[in-house]
Amino acid sequence: MTRTPLIAGNWKMNGTPMLVKDMILGLAQKYDALPEKPFEMLICPPFTLIGLASEFAKNTGIVIGGQNCSALSNGAHTGDISALMLKEARAKYVILGHSERRTDHGETNALIKAKAEQALKDGLKVIICVGETEVQKDAGETLKVVSKQVSESLPSDTKADDVVIAYEPVWAIGTGRTPTGAEVEEVHAFIRKQLAEMIGLDEAGGLRILYGGSVKPSNAKELLHIPNVDGALVGGASLKLDDFWGIAQAYL
Ligand code: 13P
Repeated sequence: MTRTPLIAGNWKMNGTPMLVKDMILGLAQKYDALPEKPFEMLICPPFTLIGLASEFAKNTGIVIGGQNCSALSNGAHTGDISALMLKEARAKYVILGHSERRTDHGETNALIKAKAEQALKDGLKVIICVGETEVQKDAGETLKVVSKQVSESLPSDTKADDVVIAYEPVWAIGTGRTPTGAEVEEVHAFIRKQLAEMIGLDEAGGLRILYGGSVKPSNAKELLHIPNVDGALVGGASLKLDDFWGIAQAYL
């Protein structure tokens, strides 16, 4: 099964209406001019900017997503946002289980799985994040940690079409440090093999596994051409048009 790479920008708690306009119109101008689309481009701004982002992305090839959603469908849950609300704001994807949510909000694998199942039910695609901390890496536990996260946070009915995994070593996020190519290759191959056991060879072969953590234009070519790396989940560099587009250039 062929996998169309995904270049996804996670804006985290950053961004303004002006940045939304400049980024989406700027990206669309470049992306839409490509005669063929060798990758998909996704921007995930904070909740308050999703509607505006969708407006600018209308009639362009740029796709919009959210950064989190509730595991519940609706009701008395002050401050929460449902998957259906994201869908109605014309988001197509939602990032779930980012390490910042696991750490800042105590999100467990079980909660992430419940969120993913609700999001799929409401018609979103999900990007499930996994990755080890520096302490876990130093203890040689990377594969064990990632394996547990993959087996416990993926929705029961995981299909290649609507589930994406992002491997983001926590110690590489926002630090300028990245694993070696061999380390990335090992973890991605390991996840693919585990997926094959969970959902079968065909689905596992079509499911995209992104790398995230300090991806920049200067290292994108190297990271994104590693076997089993099907795109990037980009934080800081997704806030600058030239940097984000520079990363996508790895596929051009
Ligand atoms: P940076 O690209 O800023 O390291 O962030 C990665 C990330 O957390 C994306 O979700």
